[in-house]
Amino acid sequence: MKSTLRRYIPLLKDYKLQYFFVLFGIILVVGATTATAHIMKPLMDDMFIKKEESMLLIIPLGLIGIYAIKSLGRYIQSVSTAYIGGSVIARLRDMLLAKMIALDLEYLYKNRSGEMISRITSDADRIRYFVSNMLPDLIQESLTVVGLVGYVIYLNPTLAFYSLVLLPLTIYPIVAISKKLKKYSHRSQSKNADVTSKLTEVFNNCEIIKANESQSFEAKRFSQLNWQSFKINMKQIYVGEIVSPVMELVGAAGLAAVIYFGGREVYNETMSVGEFSAFLTAVGLVFQPLRRVSSIYSKIQDALAASERVFMVLDTKNSIKDGTKTLSEDIKNIKFKNVKLRYNDSYALNGINVELKQGQKIALVGDSGGGKSTFINMLLRFYDPHEGSIEINGEDIKNFTLKSLRSHISLVTQRVYIFSDTLASNVSYAQDIDKKRVELSLKLADASGFVAELEDGIDTKMEEFGVNLSGGQRQRIAIARAIYKHSSLILFDEATAALDNESEKRIQKAIDEYTKDKITITIAHRLSTIQNADVILVMQQGRIVGSGTHKELLESSVIYQRLSGELDS
Ligand SMILES: Nc1ncnc2c1ncn2[C@@H]1O[C@H](COP(=O)(O)OP(=O)(O)OP(=O)(O)O)[C@@H](O)[C@H]1O
Ligand SMILES: [Mg+2]
Repeated sequence: MKSTLRRYIPLLKDYKLQYFFVLFGIILVVGATTATAHIMKPLMDDMFIKKEESMLLIIPLGLIGIYAIKSLGRYIQSVSTAYIGGSVIARLRDMLLAKMIALDLEYLYKNRSGEMISRITSDADRIRYFVSNMLPDLIQESLTVVGLVGYVIYLNPTLAFYSLVLLPLTIYPIVAISKKLKKYSHRSQSKNADVTSKLTEVFNNCEIIKANESQSFEAKRFSQLNWQSFKINMKQIYVGEIVSPVMELVGAAGLAAVIYFGGREVYNETMSVGEFSAFLTAVGLVFQPLRRVSSIYSKIQDALAASERVFMVLDTKNSIKDGTKTLSEDIKNIKFKNVKLRYNDSYALNGINVELKQGQKIALVGDSGGGKSTFINMLLRFYDPHEGSIEINGEDIKNFTLKSLRSHISLVTQRVYIFSDTLASNVSYAQDIDKKRVELSLKLADASGFVAELEDGIDTKMEEFGVNLSGGQRQRIAIARAIYKHSSLILFDEATAALDNESEKRIQKAIDEYTKDKITITIAHRLSTIQNADVILVMQQGRIVGSGTHKELLESSVIYQRLSGELDS
């Protein structure tokens, strides 16, 4: 618990002014609460017993004054703590997202997106609730307890002992309950993540769900998770809510003791009625904040569990380590040296040796699962080889900073990513927008035609995932994006699968000229693409089983003969 809380110290440091306000507010509240008990003494002794008429005015006015101070204190304190809590969580969320998108692709693939979203939203929210609502309450109520207990002891130490003797006995059950609660919190938060994950899955796959009329199937699966989450939340509540009634009973016992022992002292005239009333009120008031403190203590477990989940992400180490050298010149030469890569147990690449040079157009062909996409992803360091190495311009790519390495590479995949922004910003993605260059890129990608028909041209707003575009249009935008980047290595992973033969040929012709001083690696399913390639690599079960031009391979490779027979012409 301590080590988790210590992680917040750097985040909690910068709020000196707010802390001052919180403290000021708390002092007002604690002072006013103790005064509420104290006012009982003149109320009884001076107003009722001595019948001083002026008290009839002074006491009610005093009471209003006390409550005015208390309310003011509470307001100052609440807004200041909400400020601290809200801003700490906003910072935590910034940190989380920045960390998450910097994590290894492998990690992001393994963890469902809903799980990640739930860390940033609901876990962070549980922490916020704790920091802005419970933490200040905890401080304020604890101080109130201290203030009132002090006052009670000051009034009558013996009586204070009898009325508060049971208190220490409540500590053990509260600690035991808290432990249980933390376990439930962890479970409830991970169930919550399941619910979010299911939601993201459903909304990302809405087409498939509708096409299969599986709405009720999905609704049922969601409902299952939803109610499981409800059940575990209820368990948390069944256990957590025990704390409050237990404290209430102890409180009643304390009051009973005051009445029994204190009543005797009033009969024996060792205590005035006013003192007795003040005492009774103070003990009654002690138990209210005490009940809050103990129930907050048990709820802290929820925030602790959420914190542990959040810090677990923040502590995750990347296995892909950033290099230190900047790759400043164009990629002129790529060398795979006996590269092997395993996913789990089987080899996706199994001893790849190949050299590629500036100006070459390379095509990768092979059966599905042969390792073609893996080959391409290795160049971006989505994965590092388990054996062997990859060199660019004679330097191991691990030595380059990821940023500089990736700035020289364009990747276009079959799955096209469109952001909800204008067409121009989608093409120039994350770089400055140069409209001329955008238009030129679109032209090379054979997209000028459809862009001209759009109402706002390149300033047209794209919907999320590009739903307002056809598959081919999306793919053209992705190709334009790759061209806009001015990379020296261009990777096409089935980048033209959604295009018809004619447009594919047009694009190819247009970018042939553009790519003549670059390295292009294309995973292709069309004979026409391959025929033009300078080198064709045939990949089978993680190995390169043939390489050469179309003509050479037709003569030398049986596998290639079969593959090219299967390709679209
Ligand atoms: N993220 C991953 N985790 C585990 N295994 C993977 C992963 N990605 C690919 N594989 C496995 O590695 C092998 C090579 O996959 P790869 O995607 O490189 O094939 P491919 O040649 O691109 O196939 P396709 O033509 O179907 O796209 C396959 O057997 C696949 O199951
Ligand atoms: Mg592939």
